[in-house]
This record gives sequence, structure tokens and C-alpha cells, in this order.
Amino acid sequence: MKISIIGTGYVGLVTGVCLSSIGHNITCIDIDKTKINSLNQGKSPIYEPGLDKLILSCKLSNNLFFTTDFDTAVDTADLVFIAVGTPQSENGSTDLKYIESCIRGIAKAASHDMYVVIKSTVPVGTAQKMQEVFKEALQDEENKDLNIFISSNPEFLKEGSAIEDFMNPDRIVIGTNDDESLKRLKEVYKYFEKKNVPIFYTNVQSAQLIKYAANSFNAAKISFINSLASYCEKTGANIADVADGIGLDKRIGRSFLNAGIGYGGSCFPKDVESLKYEMNNSNSMLSAIIEENEKARFWPIKTLYDIFKNTEYPGEEGSYKFSSDDSLHIAILGLAFKPNTDDIRCSVGVKLAEELSKYYTVTIYDPIATDKAYVALKDCNVKAFYSINEAVAGADIVIFCTEWDEFKKLNKWELNTIAYIMRGNIIIDGRNIFDQKEMSKKFNYYCVGKQHI
Ligand code: UDX
Repeated sequence: MKISIIGTGYVGLVTGVCLSSIGHNITCIDIDKTKINSLNQGKSPIYEPGLDKLILSCKLSNNLFFTTDFDTAVDTADLVFIAVGTPQSENGSTDLKYIESCIRGIAKAASHDMYVVIKSTVPVGTAQKMQEVFKEALQDEENKDLNIFISSNPEFLKEGSAIEDFMNPDRIVIGTNDDESLKRLKEVYKYFEKKNVPIFYTNVQSAQLIKYAANSFNAAKISFINSLASYCEKTGANIADVADGIGLDKRIGRSFLNAGIGYGGSCFPKDVESLKYEMNNSNSMLSAIIEENEKARFWPIKTLYDIFKNTEYPGEEGSYKFSSDDSLHIAILGLAFKPNTDDIRCSVGVKLAEELSKYYTVTIYDPIATDKAYVALKDCNVKAFYSINEAVAGADIVIFCTEWDEFKKLNKWELNTIAYIMRGNIIIDGRNIFDQKEMSKKFNYYCVGKQHI
């Protein structure tokens, strides 16, 4: 099938490359010429395991093209996927300006009825709104009698395992309100049907809500376990054991129950906020998820206040008030919002570096995202390093914000080296990476949801 995909970000690029790898003829469109040029040379502009290789092999099979020529690519496709960004506005709502501009572009380029699939995460009702935008855009055009049929096929890709998630999904959700779109989407996903992947068919509105509900539910699991963390710290219960214990109940399951410094990234924070906004801010479950996440993100700061007993604790999440002391050195390890990605959106590590550098000497290190974080922190007084040891040398306090394998795999000798080259001995582990008993032998070790030893 001939498919064009508008937007070559994480979602559009991974979708395009994977659909091409199963035999569809894919054209990826973007307005960013530099990005398209680099993709045409086989280079991915984002870090995603396996992506570079797959781009090259699909290009060699002559099944994958990258272009800035929007009109031709859109008009010659059997199906157009929209995978542009849907950022969050100030008030929590979803900003649909990029989707709208795609629809206007499609109206301009179309010489026949158009079948469009929205992959981007958009609120319920967006398809109807965009149908109106299309009609309005056509009013004075020669092609004003054309129709647009909009479907929904939300993505559930996790950064860092996006290709694996696309090729082996738990389910594919297809929301259509007309027969021809349904027929075309069935053709797109025939390969997965043969592999017995569950394909869930519904209407457009339900498909859109399924995406928000899935992300909010997973965020709820994280916030629920985090809401018990400080109680565990007080009482001597161990949050990891509690998660294991409840996770064995098949109705609950163990995934997304790792306590820590909360969820970040480009999806969970935005999607929970957006659903809350669309429901007139009246859903108290969604409000509680957000509130608990703010508390979780604030845990390293709260821990610092507990350590510096003399500092005035401001008592509310999100406010930082320390007495400046350049001689105190804090190293922050892990700037990506989670492992296996260079994405630093809504990253606790970056936020901490920004805030703490106002008071202290701050050094940072991330296995992949150091450069991106350094650019984001260009106005802050932060020193970036390319190895753990360089970042922690001379540090009084080390804060771990991302559970990268490189950190998890630190062996006894490497940890001894860290203990030796640090000036102080405080470790704040925001992701419960290490064994508490072992670490407490070498360091003054703080972790989430476990009583301090
Ligand atoms: C998420 C959804 O999983 C995906 O289906 C959707 O399409 C996009 O949003 P992603 O943002 O890549 O994917 O990250 P994910 O792996 O789901 O993790 C989200 C956040 O939750 C991360 O900040 C992670 O550190 C945090 N998390 C996850 C926890 O704090 N505890 C857990 O147990 C699991």
C-alpha cells in the first residue's frame, strides 16, 4: 500500500520505517530540510535502538522515501498518516495547530477524496473538528466538493523500545467511522493480523480516548505506588517488596509499580493533563495522579532538606529555597527522562540541575543525553562530563535520576572508586537502582520508599 506520513519525529519516523519493513511503500514528509537530508543519507536524527539499521535496509529495498514535497506525497498516497506534535498549552489543553496546518495542507494538495489517519495523540472530537477545518479550507478552491475521512490509530510506542513495540505490539487500536477507511487500515495491518496480534476495532472517538486512558492508567499505577513511599520510609515497610507483593496478584501485575522520582517524558505528563482539561478539570483521580507525581519529582529536594537540617524547608512541592554555597558540589547522574533514550523532556535530572546550580556547584553526566542536557542548561552554571568518574570526582553528594544499565551494572570496585574520588559520601538514589544494604556500607545512602539505614 502507498502510504505517506506527515511528521518525522519519534512516532512518524518509527511508524514509517516499520510499515516500510513489512512491505508498504512509505514516504515520510517533513518541513525540516536538514532532517530530510540527513534521513536521505540514512542517518536518523533521533537515538532509538535499531532505527539506523532499519532505515538503511528499507531504503535499499526501495520502500522508504523522505521528502519535503508535501503536495505530491499527500496526493499520491492511498492513506495519509498524521504524526505531528500535539504540544501542551499553558492551560493544560492540547494545542492542535500542527494538526490543523496538516489538514489545511491536505485540502490544498488534494485532487480526490482523502483518507487520513491521525496517529498523534489528540482529544476526543478532534476528527470532527478537522473535518470542518478541511471543508472551510476548501470553500474557495476548485476542489471544494472533495471529502476527507479521518480515522484514529493511536500509537503506544515507548521511547527506547519503539521498534520492538511497533513490531510486537500488545494490541493495535483502529478507530474508524466509515467503511472505506476501515478497509484500508485492515490492509495496512494485515501482516499483524496474520501474526495473531490482537487488533481492536472501534469508532474514532473511543480510539482517541483509549490512548489517553492507557497512559493515564499507567501513570496512575506509578503515582499510586509513589503515594505509599514516604509512609514506607516512616514505618520501615519496603516499597519494592510491597510492589512485588501486590504485583503477584494477577489482577494487578508488577509492571509500572517501580517507585521513584515520578514519570516524565513527552507523553504521560501531557496526556494526563490534557484528559483532565478535556473533562473540565473535574476528574479527581486525574488530579491526584498529577499531584502525587509532583511530590515524587520533589523527593530529591525533600531529601536534601532532610540532610541539611539547618535549611528552611519551604514545605510545598516545586519551590526551592537553599542558602547558596558554591563550595558544595552536587553531581547529577542521569538526565534522560528514562533509560535508553536521549529525550530530556520533563526530566527530573535536568530540572534538578537547573535549580540546584543556582545555589551549588553542579556537575552532570548521562550515558547518552549529556549533550542535549548541556544545551538545555546553557544558561545555568553546570559542568557537563562524559564519564561517571569525571562527574563525581570531588562531589559531596551524588543524585541518581535515571536507572541506566551503566549505573545498575556498577560493580563493587567501581563503587569503591566512586566512594574514593567523591569528597563526601552522600548518595541520593531517585530510582532505587542499588542494593540498600550494600550501598549503606560505603555511603550515606538514601533511596525511595525505604527507611534510611
Ligand atoms: C509512554 C507510554 O508507555 C507509551 O505507550 C505511549 O505511547 C507514550 O508514552 P514513554 O513516554 O516512552 O511511553 O515512557 P514509559 O516507558 O512508558 O515511561 C514513562 C515514565 O514513567 C518514565 O518517566 C519512567 O521513568 C516512569 N516510570 C515507569 C516509573 O516511574 N515507574 C515505573 O514503574 C515505570
